[in-house]
Amino acid sequence: MSIVSVDDAANTWKLPSWRSLLPVGADAQTGGYRRFSFTPADSQCRDWFRLEAVHRGLRVETDRNGNLWAWWDPEHARADSEVVVTGSHLDSVPDGGAFDGPLGVVSAFAAIDLLVKARVEPVRPVGVVAFTEEEGARFGMACLGSRLLTGAVTPEAARELTDADGVSLAEAMAAAGLDPEAIGPDPELVGRIEAFVELHIEQGSALAGMNAAVGVAESIWPHGRWRIDFNGRADHAGTTKLADRSDPMLPFAATVLAARTVATELKSLATFGRVAAEPGAANAISSAVHAWLDARAPDESTLTELVSQVTAVAALSGSSHGVTATSTCESLTPAVEFDLDLRDRVLAALAGQEIEAPVLATGAGHDAGVLAAAVPAAMLFVRNRTGVSHSPAERAEPEDCETGIIALAAVLEELACR
Ligand code: GLV
Ligand code: MN
Ligand code: MN
Repeated sequence: MSIVSVDDAANTWKLPSWRSLLPVGADAQTGGYRRFSFTPADSQCRDWFRLEAVHRGLRVETDRNGNLWAWWDPEHARADSEVVVTGSHLDSVPDGGAFDGPLGVVSAFAAIDLLVKARVEPVRPVGVVAFTEEEGARFGMACLGSRLLTGAVTPEAARELTDADGVSLAEAMAAAGLDPEAIGPDPELVGRIEAFVELHIEQGSALAGMNAAVGVAESIWPHGRWRIDFNGRADHAGTTKLADRSDPMLPFAATVLAARTVATELKSLATFGRVAAEPGAANAISSAVHAWLDARAPDESTLTELVSQVTAVAALSGSSHGVTATSTCESLTPAVEFDLDLRDRVLAALAGQEIEAPVLATGAGHDAGVLAAAVPAAMLFVRNRTGVSHSPAERAEPEDCETGIIALAAVLEELACR
């Protein structure tokens, strides 16, 4: 039986939720988003979340890790009942698209609207969550909020993370009115989560090639980030003979090229998307180059091999130029296989809405991947016609987003109402 009609979903999509979030953190020059944790844009996103929750009569909480929760508490559920949670994140990469993260949060609220409109009564509470610092764009560690919640990172290690200006997570949280001493796992809350379902824009073009509006996640490639610090010696660009230089830019360049070659050989992915040269003068040899390797592979041993070959090139090339190269892992996510029983229930709920959803593996990281280590987790992907993401050009069509909302509502009905 259909719980919602397409017309209902279309009307929901036209509600102000999406449009009111769109301007927050938008960069007028690039058309991308800069929603970094504990900045004014992040605080506006958090205000938006609270307002959306309050409008719907949902109970709002900020947990000890800064994650936001909005609870739809059914009248008859026991206070200690198991809960079903959906949501995603509101932070962005530098100049990210509008959909990566926010689509899952907006769709979560919209799916609840559809269920309320259809007078569907959950028998257990439904939570909407917006996780802190999913992208790791400010403090370097991806999925920081969900890692803290589940205990995948220690509070001590998290407090010491610093941003590009040397501000620690502890300092940033304190400035945002949160208590950094309180961060850490919440086994009581995690233990109550019967299922977590994250809806997310697809960050590739598989669904477009399969003519499907919505997909379901099968697995996530293991992936991580490594900072490589090349330390050389600053000197004058116009007077220092080439033979006398310890230029960290040279081993850095060799490492970038090696990463491409090794990733090709290992059928993996390696990217240097962030680099900082010190002191950054056009007419000086750099004293240091800091570069971030993002590496992803189909399995964990290949990922280890990829990173060890790339970092070995950094060290070897560094030594031939009088430069030291040290590598530090900033975040690592093991391979994720999503819960099979939950995936079957998700597929059955979608089939009930006559939504045919292919099952896909992905190389993109998500809070659902972190949650999957602790609770049954699943993901819905919404088609991205161009496949572009982490870019202002990211786009999902409204009709696909509407199908995603219907799919999520059906999944929540299946999980929370039976
Ligand atoms: C998150 O978007 C990631 O895969 O880096
Ligand atoms: Mn992302
Ligand atoms: Mn995301």
